[in-house]
Amino acid sequence: MNTQELINTARMLIANDKGLLAMDESTPTCDKRFARLGIPQTVEARRAYREMIITTPGLAESISGLILYDETIRQKKKDGTPFIKIITDSGIIPGIKVDTGAKEMAIHPGEKITEGLDGLRDRLAEYSQMGARFAKWRAVIALGEGLPSQGCIEANAQTLARYAALCQEAGLVPIVEPEVLMDGEHTLERCCEVTKEVLRTVFNQLYTQRVMLEGMILKPNMVLPGLACPKQETVVEVADSTVRCLLRSVPAAVPGVAFLSGGQSSELASARLNAMNVRFKSRLPWALAFSFARAIQQPALEIWHGDEENVAAAQKALYHRASCNRAARRGEYTAAMEMI
Ligand code: 13P
Repeated sequence: MNTQELINTARMLIANDKGLLAMDESTPTCDKRFARLGIPQTVEARRAYREMIITTPGLAESISGLILYDETIRQKKKDGTPFIKIITDSGIIPGIKVDTGAKEMAIHPGEKITEGLDGLRDRLAEYSQMGARFAKWRAVIALGEGLPSQGCIEANAQTLARYAALCQEAGLVPIVEPEVLMDGEHTLERCCEVTKEVLRTVFNQLYTQRVMLEGMILKPNMVLPGLACPKQETVVEVADSTVRCLLRSVPAAVPGVAFLSGGQSSELASARLNAMNVRFKSRLPWALAFSFARAIQQPALEIWHGDEENVAAAQKALYHRASCNRAARRGEYTAAMEMI
């Protein structure tokens, strides 16, 4: 295992106040988002959309790494240039989603276990050969009546740790993503309690599986009230609860925490990340960064709408969201930035 290379890659992913852009939607998820906007659900439409993203001028000013999907990492620009070359040439590090999805968990109604360990060593070797330098695996934890179960938390944590170990063996930095979902009526306190329990279990398993914490990135949810909870805390309350929860569960050896957006609006995701950095940045052992999919892509996707003529306007929106989130890492994001 090349320890120093893993450490360097992990550091580069969170350097200069940049963050990650997740564009690793599986084909069914991408198609669902296209269908909602009436965009054709074809290989060519998905390719054209991803080409729009990776050719956004100036994207590398705010984005350190792009997370791709198996279909996307093999695709090319219309002129024949491989996507991976365009990304690398622009100074962005390519990464790859390697889980094969969250599936119904046996004898655990309402819960899911993420699959994809079978054959993973060979797939990682192939992706590494293609130029990927990091990987991502997402586990989902649902909250509700009697949920989550210990069985679901433990199985997902162990799976994440086994994935992370295989990544490090292959020289790829693992992005470890245990997502406590926003769906439901639960309170912010409940989300905090469950997130803490999940993170502690994940780090216990990472330790057991000998994963080097300096060579990984954690991708957690922010601590939020459920979408259907009547009480919705302020930006500052969310920032405080999230940081308190992380301080109690994430070891200092981890270089960076890059949040998922999870269905928050683009503006709220930026404002909450900003508040965390304004209030705590100088006192934290790890960087607080972003690894958003929807909160960066959504406005651009709506503008693009499957039409080549909209590419420049969509890229402008994408660049804007990426810049807002870089500002949020510096604690310099303001609502006025949204007026442009
Ligand atoms: P969202 O930011 O849309 O939650 O996506 C992040 C991600 O990569 C999900 O795995």
